Amino acid sequence: CAAAAVLVSQRVKVRSQKCTARKILLEFQEACDTPVARLRQVVDAMAVEMHAGLVSEGGSKLKMLPTFIDHLPDGNERGLFYAVDLGGTNFRVLRVQLGGLEGRVIKQEYEEVAIPPELMLGTSEELFDFIAKELVSFVAREGEDFRLHAGQGREIGFTFSFPVKQTDINAGSLLQWTKGFKVNDAIGQDVVAALQGCIERRGYKMRIAALVNDTVGTLAGGRYWNNDVMIAVILGTGTNACYVERAESISKWGGELPKSGQMVINMEWGNFWSSHLPRTYVDESLDNESLHPGEYGFEKMISGMYLGDCVRRVLVRMAQQAGIFGPHVPHKLLEPFSLQTPDMSKMHHDNSSDLKMVAEVLKRVYGIQNTTVGIRKIVLSVCDTVCQRGARLAAAGIVGILKKIGRDGSAANGLNRRNNTFEQSDVNGTHDEVPVNCPTGSGKTVVAMDGGLYEHYGEFRNYMQEAVVELLGEASKNVFIELSKDGSGIGAALLAASYAEYVPT
Ligand code: GLC
Repeated sequence: CAAAAVLVSQRVKVRSQKCTARKILLEFQEACDTPVARLRQVVDAMAVEMHAGLVSEGGSKLKMLPTFIDHLPDGNERGLFYAVDLGGTNFRVLRVQLGGLEGRVIKQEYEEVAIPPELMLGTSEELFDFIAKELVSFVAREGEDFRLHAGQGREIGFTFSFPVKQTDINAGSLLQWTKGFKVNDAIGQDVVAALQGCIERRGYKMRIAALVNDTVGTLAGGRYWNNDVMIAVILGTGTNACYVERAESISKWGGELPKSGQMVINMEWGNFWSSHLPRTYVDESLDNESLHPGEYGFEKMISGMYLGDCVRRVLVRMAQQAGIFGPHVPHKLLEPFSLQTPDMSKMHHDNSSDLKMVAEVLKRVYGIQNTTVGIRKIVLSVCDTVCQRGARLAAAGIVGILKKIGRDGSAANGLNRRNNTFEQSDVNGTHDEVPVNCPTGSGKTVVAMDGGLYEHYGEFRNYMQEAVVELLGEASKNVFIELSKDGSGIGAALLAASYAEYVPT
């Protein structure tokens, strides 16, 4: 009888734990909710901030950085080019033999190494020397089937995926670090000069022809194959977008207007902010404890570096207030970034009836044993909530850009400044008078997408695509989101070719 009483009391306890955990889940879900009306507010805010960021330096949290890129690769590029790519979790070097319109990419090779974590927090000299060392050792292994043209030097596209204020196609100073990097003495430095110096000190003669954000590399890589590519988005460790803007819309641009009339803008949308974003206690605490507090709030709600940690923070609350993992909170659960997004994704994609994968991850990462199916379901729902919010916000960002460049399908009833009338949907005045044209004028808009989060997290991709369709309706038929895998590396090499000193005859 006594044993039965203990059992009943344990059951009651488990039920009440689940009940409190459910309550925490429901509250979190409500705070993360992104109904279409809210997403539309984010879309409008994005378009408004884009305008503001183009008007003046510091006009918006969106940096809207001019990239000096006024023409994109068109297939005519020829010769041997290199690219180095620093910005995510891995560092890459690449060489590519370009054969013009007939040959295109004749041959390419690349190598990838994990960036030693201490370099992400060390000195500028150590970081750039590491890049130079990897690059020159890769160059030293150049095979005979890669050929420079007579008179051609080795030129490099430098993908550097951080905010840089460019002063030329191959010069620019670092504004701040983001993601997992914090190399303080590099801020304000010309990153091209820093790398060029390290390469030369190693006795090599190579010229950095183009400094390229990863979004810009992805745009160039996408455009090389498809003329309708107007926007590129990265959804990886960090998140960002760039797009082709009409040069005359960039009021803050002090220089001569490019002949093409266009310029690529690196938005640094990770730093976008709007009161319409569904911010929660999780975002507050993650931001406070992050490497860059107060910065890149949008990125912290969306990108691969942070999604797993958002989930972990909700689980901590459930462990502390509802005891879902037993009487003690597992020690490791309290460790920031201990739950990585690939593990979150594994749990989220668990289709088994007893959620074996959720149990496996909790056990492997935190040593948590014997979870009930009910608790596992709650954990999965947390993953779903965090993923869905991030994906829908990314979709709103994309639609915001489409709106800004007049390709969201509402241009027909948008702003008509020529006869000075404001028509129906353009309450914000965020439409451009003339849509930015792509070379084909096909009416299609392709968004080139790259990054591990988009590539490997199927549910994220689905939620994002679904939200784009929800927001655009009919117009979504003309918008294509295409994975441009590793586009940024090859894109940087293509831009090195476009802006090389040597022009093949
Ligand atoms: C961060 C960087 C940005 C980059 C993005 C994706 O947001 O600041 O430059 O494009 O991550 O890697």
